[in-house]
Amino acid sequence: MIQKKLIIAGALIASFAHIENTRGSIMSKISLQGVVLAAGKSTRFKTEKSKLVTKICGQEMILYCTKLLESLEIPTTLVVGYQREQVEQVVKYAHGDTVNFALQAPQKGTGHAVQCSKEFWHKDHVLILNGDGPLVTRDIIENLAKVHQESDAAISFVTAHNPDPSVVGYGRVITTGNSVKIVEQKHFTGDPQEHCCLNAGIYIVRTDFLREVIDTIPENEVTHEWYLTDLVHLACAQGRIVKTVDAPFDRIRGVNTLKELWTLEQIIRYDVISEHMANGVRFSAPQTMHIDLDVQIGAGTVIGCSVHLLNGTRIGKNCRIESGSTLKDAHIGDTVTIFQNSIVDNSDIESGALIGPFAHIRKESKIAQNAQIGNFVEVSKSTIGQGSKAKHLAYLGNAIIGSNVNIGAGTITCNYDGTHKHVTTIEDGAFIGSNNTLIAPVTVHKGAYTAAGSVITNDVPAGALAIARERQTNKENYVEQLINRDLKNESDETPEKPTAFMGAFKDTNHHHFQ
Ligand code: UD1
Ligand code: CA
Repeated sequence: MIQKKLIIAGALIASFAHIENTRGSIMSKISLQGVVLAAGKSTRFKTEKSKLVTKICGQEMILYCTKLLESLEIPTTLVVGYQREQVEQVVKYAHGDTVNFALQAPQKGTGHAVQCSKEFWHKDHVLILNGDGPLVTRDIIENLAKVHQESDAAISFVTAHNPDPSVVGYGRVITTGNSVKIVEQKHFTGDPQEHCCLNAGIYIVRTDFLREVIDTIPENEVTHEWYLTDLVHLACAQGRIVKTVDAPFDRIRGVNTLKELWTLEQIIRYDVISEHMANGVRFSAPQTMHIDLDVQIGAGTVIGCSVHLLNGTRIGKNCRIESGSTLKDAHIGDTVTIFQNSIVDNSDIESGALIGPFAHIRKESKIAQNAQIGNFVEVSKSTIGQGSKAKHLAYLGNAIIGSNVNIGAGTITCNYDGTHKHVTTIEDGAFIGSNNTLIAPVTVHKGAYTAAGSVITNDVPAGALAIARERQTNKENYVEQLINRDLKNESDETPEKPTAFMGAFKDTNHHHFQ
């Protein structure tokens, strides 16, 4: 993941790429390991699913912390408990076996969670992170490590100031003379504007001090939990050095509720889009976008309103992705236009192609250079060759279509016999008339034509014209005869009897044809 250095000025957050390895930085000078807390029950989330495996911009919340630590080369232990299988699965998928897991069961608070990771402590200092703080940056951690190292503190932690009294859910950092303590929101009775210094949930603790005090954290009488935050006043009580490092509130926000998740998602999306803008991508309505972290977009590309760019989508230069389109694991070349309301899912679109409006390309399909897939055309597990066109109302499934082929409106490949899928092959330069039904497996060879309305069940030789439809018969004067018959029936006062007539419905009280 691209790490960002952030400068916050009011609501304006400027971000720029900040990739460097840790050699020569503070991180190489401190013996540090990470413990990430991810065992909590997510009670305030109310979704019955651990918030830590909920995705934000396509990435599970817990991975924001674990990937940050990985980029800083800090060995990591994750404390798991509630829905541990799901959390472990996500982390193992991203990190292999490089992250250790410590089990906390039952879950009795953040202090208890850290206690459960004891057997993994082997470095001189432990960096403890709440797993539900995905906005934290490399700079914040480096700054904290630097202050901690230089001051020889027993514990250093990150704070943020926010005088807004409606901000809830954070421990308040209360300083009295030389003493500092953290009072949790639910036990705080003071003036929130006066005590607007908040605990971020990011700490570095000397391992020897941590070993000494971790079992002495008292159980809270009201909640019956062990609060990690009590380490701060335990250190003060022993006359140890306690340090704080201030960070912007928008970088330390935690996620307890779905509303907070929404806020965080706005911030992360803002960062992602800002970075694309800096690289020359134009968004006509960025506030309406869904965009995942791992999306790549080339310079000069314009993205319309309400576009979803998901799951590893790569878009080339000078493309146009119009409103309402969804691209998921899509690989788009240069100068491609995706017109409104199209879906490209797990498929490749080569340069110069025109897709949509209302097209659906899916299942490892490939649309080659300058091909055109128009309105209400579905392409599934198919290859469409260079310069070929299917511009209106078609289903192309399991089809191998050569170059410069024309697929007429309403063409369907019948690829499925109820059990198996079969291939339709249409070779270079073939012309499929409108409203054709191609019963797979079948091949239309090079340059062959098929007549409109054909049901093609047999291969068509190269250069041949296949006509596979009923011949038309015209019944002269037939209409007049029918009308006369109906009029006669009425005058005979025969019982009312509706007459179906060429798809129109005529009853005897309503004479359409008089
Ligand atoms: C915590 C801090 C609070 C701080 C805030 C910052 C404590 C007591 N309070 O409060 O001072 O301002 O974070 O966001 O630490 N967890 C476990 N096991 C448990 C309980 C929690 O692993 O038994 C994990 C959770 O999954 C979560 C993290 O610890 O990732 C924080 O827990 P949470 O309950 O969200 O703490 P807050 O109430 O937000
Ligand atoms: Ca929290």
